[in-house]
Amino acid sequence: MPRQNHKKPHLRRTFLGYQIYHYGAVSSTNDIAKEIARKNDERRVIVVAETQTRGRGRAKRRWTSPKGGTWISILLRPQIKPKEVLKLAFITSSAATKTIQQLYDLKAEVKWPNDVLVRGKKICGILTETETKENKLLFVVIGVGINANIDIKFLPEELRQTATSLKHELGREVERKTLMKRFVRNFESRYKNLQRGMWAPLLDEWKSLTSFLGKQVKVTSFDEIIIGEAWDVEDDCSLIIRLENGTIKRIINGDLALRKKA
Ligand code: BTN
Repeated sequence: MPRQNHKKPHLRRTFLGYQIYHYGAVSSTNDIAKEIARKNDERRVIVVAETQTRGRGRAKRRWTSPKGGTWISILLRPQIKPKEVLKLAFITSSAATKTIQQLYDLKAEVKWPNDVLVRGKKICGILTETETKENKLLFVVIGVGINANIDIKFLPEELRQTATSLKHELGREVERKTLMKRFVRNFESRYKNLQRGMWAPLLDEWKSLTSFLGKQVKVTSFDEIIIGEAWDVEDDCSLIIRLENGTIKRIINGDLALRKKA
């Protein structure tokens, strides 16, 4: 078997104005998308891979990416400020959640900042990475990992209690092409609205897809643990926590977990 050459996709086509580069094994689709962004000026590219050998998650975590999953990265050059990139991650999690609801009738939901859960377990994760110059955004890569046709037993032991897959939830495999097409359509319609300045309804939609608001949560943000009620999510995507003493705390980055009832 010849070694997989990351530079040469085995399939190239277009869909909804995106150049789609389809690979077998890559290190990380985000890395390939960044390489493409630096080399040429294509505006909209989607990199898809069957497996990733060094899939990355948020906070420098590893993202296990066996065959059967949907591992993709969307390369965009949006006219937005670097701090607005969180909005892209939000519309991506809404698009993934809607896709799972529409195609499989599962009760998918979003969890701040941009995880997608089914039955409280993570089924999709999103990692946005950017390149900037003099505080100008050159490009954004939105990495999306959907646990599609994955047997839970192939996930690391420590994830088996907290992660799930479409195959596990449905008891059957899904058509990954259909999944990807619907996801890209759902993403694209939201991205268009974001570019038209329609952030408020997009944020409203995102909030309508959550169930953690109003609940007791524990948020780990950098080295701090914050416990309180998930009060709201603000226009800039930050999470507002109301502490027990009534103090309001604003968190821009972190991991949220629901607190179990005593
Ligand atoms: C997270 O929840 O921690 C984010 C996970 C993001 C995983 C996807 S899979 C496709 C893309 N390539 C990567 O290396 N990571 C993202």
